[in-house]
Amino acid sequence: MLVDGSPRVACVTPLARVAGRRVTTFEGLDDADGWADVMSATGASQCGFCTPGIIVRAASLALERRRDAAAVDRMLLAHLCRCTGWQPIREAIVAGPWTSNGGHAGVGRDDDAASVRAEMEGGVGQHVSVAVATGAGGFSDDLAPDDALVALLAADGEWVVGDSLDDARQRSGKVQGRRSTTALSWPVDVPAGSWVRTLETTWVEPGYLEPDASWCAPGGEPSPALGNGGAFGAKVASEVTSVARRLADEHGRPVRALYTREDVVRRGPKRPPLAIAVDADGGGVLRIAHSGDEDPARSVDVARQGLELAGFTLASWHVEVVDVAGPPTSVALRASIVGELLAVAASLDTAPDVVALTSGARAVAEFDGDELVIHVHAGDPLDATVLRSYCTGAAHAALGMVRSEAVALDDIGRPVDLTIRSFGILRAQDTPAIRIEIADADRGGEPLAVSDAVFAAALAAAWRSTSFAPRWPAHRR
Ligand code: FES
Repeated sequence: MLVDGSPRVACVTPLARVAGRRVTTFEGLDDADGWADVMSATGASQCGFCTPGIIVRAASLALERRRDAAAVDRMLLAHLCRCTGWQPIREAIVAGPWTSNGGHAGVGRDDDAASVRAEMEGGVGQHVSVAVATGAGGFSDDLAPDDALVALLAADGEWVVGDSLDDARQRSGKVQGRRSTTALSWPVDVPAGSWVRTLETTWVEPGYLEPDASWCAPGGEPSPALGNGGAFGAKVASEVTSVARRLADEHGRPVRALYTREDVVRRGPKRPPLAIAVDADGGGVLRIAHSGDEDPARSVDVARQGLELAGFTLASWHVEVVDVAGPPTSVALRASIVGELLAVAASLDTAPDVVALTSGARAVAEFDGDELVIHVHAGDPLDATVLRSYCTGAAHAALGMVRSEAVALDDIGRPVDLTIRSFGILRAQDTPAIRIEIADADRGGEPLAVSDAVFAAALAAAWRSTSFAPRWPAHRR
């Protein structure tokens, strides 16, 4: 929001501080529609969770400063977008709001084709329209009736129900989570041996921005936790829908079941940390950390697929699942195990980092100076803007995983970095320019989901730029 024209973060501004002052929210901006248009036109909005806040801040920047990409990156320090990889946001802000004279995002755009591409890349139903950039993406908790009860998790793991969010917070004894100074740990080790390449990865938080939420009326169907976005595979089995249904039936009233950010980190699934070692003949060892209820056989299946896709000979590999103390692991997270194996295979070549999926989708990633350039072969793009946005988002997540993302655990395996700022997600300022080149020859071909290939190719290129540091994240201890 703007307070007397200056941007302020609404969620941490006490009401008393704005008494008597002029407060402007997104809806009150003169050029709200023009901003929504440009954000949509550049692919700067996917789930839309971050977008209205970013627009309000961008609207407060003087025009000449908006033209300066470094000023834009500085202004984005207070914001976090997990979907788009910053690049489309930079471009939207530098361009400024579109007017009816300057163009309109809706003209010539096929929102349905764009939504099909978004759904392919996001893995769940997702729609694309200018309205999403206004925050109207259909977030689960936004759609709950005003009189719904609110359910939160208490410290003992039981759900408690209150008349309002405040009431539920008090009953749950909620304590705000913090960022810790606890050292990172790598839960599975590379065994001793003569290896030409090794990699150990740690716990990372998927870092989706809308915490799990669902509401349900008695006897009704719970609202899906996925809202307008796939949460990179993390919300597929979220418990909030079944909790909302159960509590609504118990109380005979609509109930909203909500995770706090701390609940997301503690209870939400994480991609399994790995230890990978390759010998001179292309054989090796893959050790996969496992925690929680997911069937360990799923990890082994995915590992086999990943090894084959990466061109390794299955018979020359020893794959092992290791039970560790930690948050639940799941191979449903974006390109789990497969992405790391593809990056390891690419690291054994000197060529640019090329990754191909069984579908035929392909990505080639390479740094050109400081710019990360990714060539994608995705069949018919359907909507090049949306395709590009998903690719920049996947590249940003990969860069973060190699360089800086991690969550520390305590000595019994509980995450202790509990704020979204503590996950090491790359800020706009720390994210290199990302250029996506979509292969023209593929236009008209069958559309193929490509963001997993982009993610893996970007992992490989980012890793190469660290001279193959043996542990991710390379730049954080
Ligand atoms: Fe920015 Fe989803 S569009 S968090």
